[in-house]
Amino acid sequence: MKKLLQVLLFCFCFSTVFGQNQLVLNADLGKHKIDKHIYGHFAEHLGRCIYGGFYVGEDNDKIKHTKGVRNDVVDALKKLKIPNLRWPGGCFADTYHWKDGVGPKEKRPTIVNRWWGGVTEDNSFGTHNFLDMCELIGTEPYLSGNVGSGTVQEFIDWVQYTTFDGKSPMSDLRKENGRANPWKVKYWGIGNEAWGCGGNMRAEYYADVYRQYATFLSAWQNDEKIFRIASGANSSDYKWTEVLMRDIPHQMLEGVALHHYSVIDWNKKGPSTTFTEEQYFTTMKRAMLMDELVTKHSNIMDKYDPAKKVALVVDEWGGWYDVEPGTNPGFLYQQNTMRDAMIAGVTLNIFHNHADRVRMANLAQTINVLQAVILTNEEKMIVTPTYHVMEMFNVHQDATMLPITVNSTDYVFNNEKLQAISASASRDANGAVHISLVNIDAKKEQEVTLDLRGAKFSNVTAKILTSPKIQDHNTFENPEKIKPAGFKGITLSGNSLKGKLPPFSVVVLELK
Ligand code: AHR
Repeated sequence: MKKLLQVLLFCFCFSTVFGQNQLVLNADLGKHKIDKHIYGHFAEHLGRCIYGGFYVGEDNDKIKHTKGVRNDVVDALKKLKIPNLRWPGGCFADTYHWKDGVGPKEKRPTIVNRWWGGVTEDNSFGTHNFLDMCELIGTEPYLSGNVGSGTVQEFIDWVQYTTFDGKSPMSDLRKENGRANPWKVKYWGIGNEAWGCGGNMRAEYYADVYRQYATFLSAWQNDEKIFRIASGANSSDYKWTEVLMRDIPHQMLEGVALHHYSVIDWNKKGPSTTFTEEQYFTTMKRAMLMDELVTKHSNIMDKYDPAKKVALVVDEWGGWYDVEPGTNPGFLYQQNTMRDAMIAGVTLNIFHNHADRVRMANLAQTINVLQAVILTNEEKMIVTPTYHVMEMFNVHQDATMLPITVNSTDYVFNNEKLQAISASASRDANGAVHISLVNIDAKKEQEVTLDLRGAKFSNVTAKILTSPKIQDHNTFENPEKIKPAGFKGITLSGNSLKGKLPPFSVVVLELK
């Protein structure tokens, strides 16, 4: 009885003194850099991502563009500071023959996009368009090469065409097609989802195929070392990672991929805007699984690569719901609500906290497809809640990750629980410390107390993204319904921060 009273007293004191959620930041213990490349994006030939999204054609006189690429999109993506952009797939990549997309447009063959809607594409957007567009946006290209239905020769011809400075058949062809100097292309994906749409291969077989491709790719190494990324596991397929790490010599491997989507049920994904709290809770459960996935895949990688030379590249992640009613089911067009802002916030926090191994990632996908940051409708363009989170969080790019411990209350739904608060922190090159906090609780405001250790701060400023309803989203009629605002709900006193986070909110603090 006495013991019980002591425990109750302790709990009472703890919650009175420290509030509901107790966080501790160790500002002097940073070791790893949060690689900016975890803020990468993904642009597949899928639905209206490329055609109508990025690209509206050189002859378009209704929408302002530069060589066919929408100016509004370029401006929006520049603000996001996207470090890399993956193209042309996804599943499409293993059907794509790059030579069909270069040279005079009128001579280019068509391609039937078998994976996505069965539409016929005219190949008017090809290698030059993509690489020039990356230069315009100020981002690094990440080309995903065709392994499933291509050849080693076709792949290395692409490397030679895009990056070789000297005289060669492919660099001559590039010059003939109007580009004298090579582009800088460091990131190369060797196939995509080789366990599925990339050829339904077994891990052991793919490891050998990878070794073959990587060998010939290396022969085209230029000054800028090529970064080769192996097609990685589907969510919790740990065996895939194990075999790749075991069977591929690490001197021919810079990154191993991982794909994980926050999908409720592949046969019953649910709507993107009119979802229930139960559906919201399940989506969050799937999103937060990312922590377990990267932990376990990293553990396997540690076994074979304790020096952490090989990066874990989460090159497809995000929410996946039913398409918007009336749209082509193969186009994967979905709206984007505060639920998506929560997915983005918790996922980026997870990536930051695993900065030692997760060094690159790509949100799927940039425009009009899955968890998009941008939606377009003819000449109109809007940015989504996910866009705002990516922008608020980009202060962490290339900053030093600072360890933060979170003692969180639970978000409870139907007797199931999830951690309500997620957090990550970093110190940038100018010495400013940023802390990202996410409260996923759909109903409850959360009180947080943050103990700041290892440094002294005199000032805190904050931004918040929230909205009255979790289903809220921006529309072409009301494009600014959700946007970041200044936040005064957190105050600094001595070495402690204290405040309240509204339900389903994302907050980024800056401490100086
Ligand atoms: O992003 C949509 C699709 O999801 C990609 O093409 C594929 O790689 C994944 O299965």
